[in-house]
Amino acid sequence: MDRSVPPAYPREYERELRLSDGRLVRLRPIVPGDAAQLADAIRTADADTLHRRFIGSPPPLTPELLRHLCELDYGRRFALVATDPVTGRGVAIARYEATTDEVAEVAVAVDPGWRRAGLATALIELLAEAALDRGIATFSACYLAGNRPVASLVDRLGGGRRIIKEGLAEALVGLDRVRVEAAVHELEERPEGRGRALTAADAAGPDR
Ligand SMILES: CC(C)(COP(=O)(O)OP(=O)(O)OC[C@H]1O[C@@H](n2cnc3c(N)ncnc32)[C@H](O)[C@@H]1OP(=O)(O)O)[C@@H](O)C(=O)NCCC(=O)NCCS
Repeated sequence: MDRSVPPAYPREYERELRLSDGRLVRLRPIVPGDAAQLADAIRTADADTLHRRFIGSPPPLTPELLRHLCELDYGRRFALVATDPVTGRGVAIARYEATTDEVAEVAVAVDPGWRRAGLATALIELLAEAALDRGIATFSACYLAGNRPVASLVDRLGGGRRIIKEGLAEALVGLDRVRVEAAVHELEERPEGRGRALTAADAAGPDR
């Protein structure tokens, strides 16, 4: 993988996190060198995950789409990936894309083998902190109305306006800075300090 990071790469979003099932993951902003691994993850994902994530079929994996997904300004468009520190393999991704000055659409996917351990929750809370710091005050999410984990994530973020129509739910959630900061603080205070930000001494680059 290409180890280079774009000039705007926000290293402060690198984290090592212990999940509720005891496993460690590394979280970091996405980089252009993730494109091949992301393409592979989408190609090999199970049908249910793809259906829930893309509400239908995934778009064709063109070089343009992969560039769009991996080359971000970390401002209006931001994504975090989670990797398994043992194998280096990506196990989750969450992103937001601003749709207006103050609203961004958020989406997340976690490898089935890494679910129900708080990984999506951690990614979304960190994304919410990044969004607030960049002037984005509201997350929108579009999901299958029966997608209970996403409904729980929306509730955890504070609920908000939700419209359910023809099997699809659309939620608009105002981001509460006090609540988001408390949630991120809770990640950082986990036993063994594993939610801490990585320091330069820990890390040599995004694909370590
Ligand atoms: C949605 C998804 C990202 C959740 O990932 P995760 O890491 O398992 O989520 P978390 O462990 O952080 O759990 C989030 C909440 O969902 C709940 N949850 C997780 N899996 C659940 C399930 N199978 N049934 C019911 N609730 C579930 C958790 O209890 C938690 O709720 P809580 O905060 O009230 O305890 C994951 O299921 C996934 O990748 N699904 C396929 C893609 C998708 O649906 N993406 C969303 C499109 S926007």
